[in-house]
Amino acid sequence: KIRINKYLSEAGICSRREADRMIEEGRITVNGKKAESGQKVSLEDEVCADNIPVHKNEKKVMLLFNKPRGIVCSTKQQRQETTVTDYLDYPLRIYPVGRLDKDTEGLLIITNDGETAHRLLSPKKHVDKTYFVQTKGKVSEEDKEKFKVGVDIGEKDLTLPADLEILKSGDISESLITIREGKFHQIKRMFKSVGKEVIYLKRLSMGNIKLDESLEKGQCRK
Ligand code: URA
Repeated sequence: KIRINKYLSEAGICSRREADRMIEEGRITVNGKKAESGQKVSLEDEVCADNIPVHKNEKKVMLLFNKPRGIVCSTKQQRQETTVTDYLDYPLRIYPVGRLDKDTEGLLIITNDGETAHRLLSPKKHVDKTYFVQTKGKVSEEDKEKFKVGVDIGEKDLTLPADLEILKSGDISESLITIREGKFHQIKRMFKSVGKEVIYLKRLSMGNIKLDESLEKGQCRK
């Protein structure tokens, strides 16, 4: 027997942490009864997530998606919003690894492999994420130094050191920025803290996984 959160992540449904949340939200059942956190299950038990039976040993898939603007990363149905999973309409239960804002483009990894998702997202692992960013306002060497130290975006701590490479500095500036954490709207908030507004944002890489530039916007590949 294994713990239910491990069972769900190994079945590719979600990370263990998300499994704990789904259990708390009452979305997981074992043999028709609401699962309890820490409960142990075996292959004979019928486990359902959102009333859908979960089969362990489901084939693992990982997709690289070039996310266009206008779609949301949440897997929950939100009124009138197209989610990544609606958009791809893939025959297995897959979900995005982390989130990009609705207006952010670029690399999104989509998988049913909870363990890999967890490895890429765990705050302890500090996986590098690089973005191309266009900002209103002149990006300067001073901003680069500030980002290197960490800036105040209204969280308990300063942001972790981030690397800024200035490509073009002017009324509209262009840079590459690499961050090692993933707070809500992090890059927009970092630029706001130095008086600039992000007008375009595209993720180029996550760890050693790079956006395949031959993918058109809205296309994905295994
Ligand atoms: N930072 C942001 O502000 N938005 C994203 O989508 C990703 C990182």
